[in-house]
Amino acid sequence: MPKALITRPIPEIGINLLKEKGFQVDANQENRVLSKDELKTRVAGVDAILSLLTDKIDGEVLDAAGPQLKIVANLAVGYDNIDLAATKERNVMVTNTPGVLTEAVAEHAFTLLMSCAKRVVEADRYVREGQFKQWEPLGFLGPQLTGKTIGVVGLGRIGSVVAQIAQKGYQMKVLYYDVKRNEQFESEVQAQFMASVDELLPLCDFVSIHVPLLDSTRHLINAERLSKMKKTAILVNTSRGPVVDETALVNALKSGQIAYAGLDVFEHEPDLTSGLVELPNVVLTPHTASATIEAREAMAKLAAESIIAVFTGQTPLNLVNLPSS
Ligand code: GLV
Repeated sequence: MPKALITRPIPEIGINLLKEKGFQVDANQENRVLSKDELKTRVAGVDAILSLLTDKIDGEVLDAAGPQLKIVANLAVGYDNIDLAATKERNVMVTNTPGVLTEAVAEHAFTLLMSCAKRVVEADRYVREGQFKQWEPLGFLGPQLTGKTIGVVGLGRIGSVVAQIAQKGYQMKVLYYDVKRNEQFESEVQAQFMASVDELLPLCDFVSIHVPLLDSTRHLINAERLSKMKKTAILVNTSRGPVVDETALVNALKSGQIAYAGLDVFEHEPDLTSGLVELPNVVLTPHTASATIEAREAMAKLAAESIIAVFTGQTPLNLVNLPSS
């Protein structure tokens, strides 16, 4: 009977699927991130790990599991928490959960964008504090979304849906940057490819980031690039925190170099860069972009199915590292 560790409570559907298929499941009941030592103890002897983006899976953890470990199924589309080279050396497969959280994250990018543009968090605080005494012609002004220009950085699944919502819902002009140009998408959505982020930024009223965290995307948005953005611009990040230099962002928001930012992810998550929480012109959510009931259930199901696939002689659909040769 193969053993699977689930590192933190997840939607039941994933746990039940594994149990139904005869797995001996150790589902951590405590709703917190396991420490490295706890993780190393807990993985000992398991055949599969259903991990979260908050679990750092490196060579040490893989060795603590043992040579029988076959798969790490990450409950996330991003998998920068996993040392892929270490998994490859040990012939451990890695899967992620793409496709099932696309709409949830794209909706969240718009939630943040609209919260910034309409200054929802500031306004909510104002009402709660009893400051709302009368309607004001000049109170809480922000930009209209309709007809503006959005820059989508990273035209993968999520970026593509953001571009479509922007265009269909708000008649925005869509500019995008990606390492790969997508001419078919350009004709379907009338999106315009920009050859570099530097060319895209000065043209956009809103910028939404949808790249994975890689060496090449770390601090993709830095002080120099922030200085190229419009002073009225809103920056939204639902990808990974380190893609933005958070200190540079705090400075840019403080100095009025850009107008507003909506952040679901943080450079030193869950810690926040000093100065960020004091800023009125930033909306912060705790990495909840995929937190719809539908997406989280589908993620749990998909991760469990990936594990089941490996033990029924199939190749999981969402393999992100090369299968063993
Ligand atoms: C969430 O951040 C994910 O990568 O799924």
